[in-house]
Amino acid sequence: MRTKLFYPNKELWADAAINSMDEYHRLQDFAKNDYEGFWDSFAKEKITWRKPYTKVLDDSNMPFVRWFEGGELNVSEQCIDRHLNDKADKIAIIFQGEKGDIQKITYKQLSIHVNKTANLLRDHFGITKGDRIVMYMPMIPEAAYVMLACARIGAIHSIVFGGFSADAIHSRVLDAKAKLIITADGAFRRGKPYFLKPTVDEALAKGECDFVEKVLVVKRNYEDINMVAGRDEIYNDLIDTMSDKCEAEIMQSEDPLFLLYTSGSTGKPKGVLHSQAGYILWAQMTMEWVFDIKDSDIYWCTADVGWITGHTYIIYGPLASGATTVMFEGVPTYPDAGRWWKMVEELKITQFYTSPTAIRMLHKVGDNEPDNYDLSSLRILGSVGEPINPEAWEWYYNKVGRGNCPIVDTWWQTETGGHMISPLPGATPIQTSCATLPVPGIMAEVMDKDGTPTAIGEKGLLCITRPWPAMIRGVWGDDERFKKAYFGECKKDGKPVYFSGDGAMVDEKGYITITGRTDDVINVSGHRIGSAEVEASIGNAPMVAESAVVGQPHPIKGESLCAFIILNLKEHAGYEEMALEINSIIKKEIGAFAKCDRFIFVPGLPKTRSGKIMRRLLRSISVGEEIIQDISTLEDPSVVEEIIKATKEQS
Ligand code: WTA
Repeated sequence: MRTKLFYPNKELWADAAINSMDEYHRLQDFAKNDYEGFWDSFAKEKITWRKPYTKVLDDSNMPFVRWFEGGELNVSEQCIDRHLNDKADKIAIIFQGEKGDIQKITYKQLSIHVNKTANLLRDHFGITKGDRIVMYMPMIPEAAYVMLACARIGAIHSIVFGGFSADAIHSRVLDAKAKLIITADGAFRRGKPYFLKPTVDEALAKGECDFVEKVLVVKRNYEDINMVAGRDEIYNDLIDTMSDKCEAEIMQSEDPLFLLYTSGSTGKPKGVLHSQAGYILWAQMTMEWVFDIKDSDIYWCTADVGWITGHTYIIYGPLASGATTVMFEGVPTYPDAGRWWKMVEELKITQFYTSPTAIRMLHKVGDNEPDNYDLSSLRILGSVGEPINPEAWEWYYNKVGRGNCPIVDTWWQTETGGHMISPLPGATPIQTSCATLPVPGIMAEVMDKDGTPTAIGEKGLLCITRPWPAMIRGVWGDDERFKKAYFGECKKDGKPVYFSGDGAMVDEKGYITITGRTDDVINVSGHRIGSAEVEASIGNAPMVAESAVVGQPHPIKGESLCAFIILNLKEHAGYEEMALEINSIIKKEIGAFAKCDRFIFVPGLPKTRSGKIMRRLLRSISVGEEIIQDISTLEDPSVVEEIIKATKEQS
């Protein structure tokens, strides 16, 4: 075990929001001793309420919790209007286009764009509080305007990541019964235009979406696209005539803010629901604590707004904190592997937040590339989305941070809304590849299903044993699934607690190391993919009788998908041809990022007598590990030999 600790320099971090472990413990003890008092004090201090709340936490109907009941606010006011007194001319968003075009948008300008967009949605499209809007957008400022405009009028946005297919959009539009879809013609990637709008057309052509009244299209690449008369309208043509004043809808603390679909271990993706006050409070608090955001900082999170990291740490968190946030349209390696470091130098980035996959890729293609740029503006480096391996951590720490910048390895999830376990840059001694300690206020515990704490150094289940303000409020339209998926597995003191799906280990310092998913969710390049979803898609290939998808280690992506396939035909095409065909189905039904890297055609799958596939066994076989699992419980143990044989033959 690597246990070397890197201590924050006391002088350098004297002004940090949390600048010592004493302060960390003071806060965490405050929360432990007086949980509601802790949250009450921050909710009062941080949020500009329209009307104060009367109750901090109502957990009488767990897992359905209500925070800050009676309170009224508007998240767009928290992110914009309240900054207009003293920060009207401060840059809110720096947009860097992939071709190098740059837009600097002040808080005043942001307010104008958001108000106009909100008026467009409300007055022109008739959107009212509670309506759902699906967004399928590139990384352009209009994505931020639309999100905040939804917040302003109380509409619920549901962003579908631009890498998803038409089928994936269709199922999300259907599930949420969206009234409006907002997209763009497309944007630019690797020096070329790409398209989004045609994918929306394809999604709607699948039918059953009569509730979708309109499609609003932002022009970004100005390529020719098909417009459906009476249904499709152009944002750029409508926006200028809108008023730049827009009365914000008064929202209750627990009104929904947004939906974001994410994969679980079973079934279709779940619409994770977040609500107003608790979410924005925690987005802001973690910006201050984990990123130590200061007024002069230029903060950059490289995520896409289509994922939770983009929601909380490109848009809502930074803007609620009155920070300057960078939005980047392109990819890290175009025109070359120095692109991001060039941006850090030119924009004088102070906090840089990215994924281990990106770090591994940049390390591989441009080991010494950071040396060519002045990265001395950097104060804090962040990592998110997947476990960061020691090699990537060390390169990031030494090459990018030059040994001067703490790495905040932030563990959290779509469902948690914001950071849960992370070092605090001015306080926590950091350790290679370790998420360290819960953020103050968060009661994270590693335990077994009954709540017994796991022994030091042993793997256990990572649970959150008290509800927190930014937690998921439900699975859209499916309360039972919400209860079962998150509160069905683990208990403490006999009561259900939130189980993350991740395994973790605690060391003697109390530091938590995430060991990865314990369920059938596979983390490919930080994208959560449910094996059941991919298997359902593979099952639609005509030659497939059955399949099982597992994660296998991948040097850049962390994990990649490996599919074991049983064919239903004696006569079939070559393996390679079939692999291509199956992948094209996955691409169509989910998106290119869910394609399998490897296919192994097998005569059978290892099933228990109750019919459950032993995926752990397949995982071992895929990497050629010795089989140590007990296979005597299998319905047909002899199948294991056959799978091993097929795997060897096809490797
Ligand atoms: C994984 C992304 C290790 C984890 C914010 C979790 C991590 C899933 C880390 C959530 C980390 C996220 N170290 N693993 N620092 N951060 N994960 O919902 O398995 O896209 O359950 O949210 O990513 O992915 P999601």
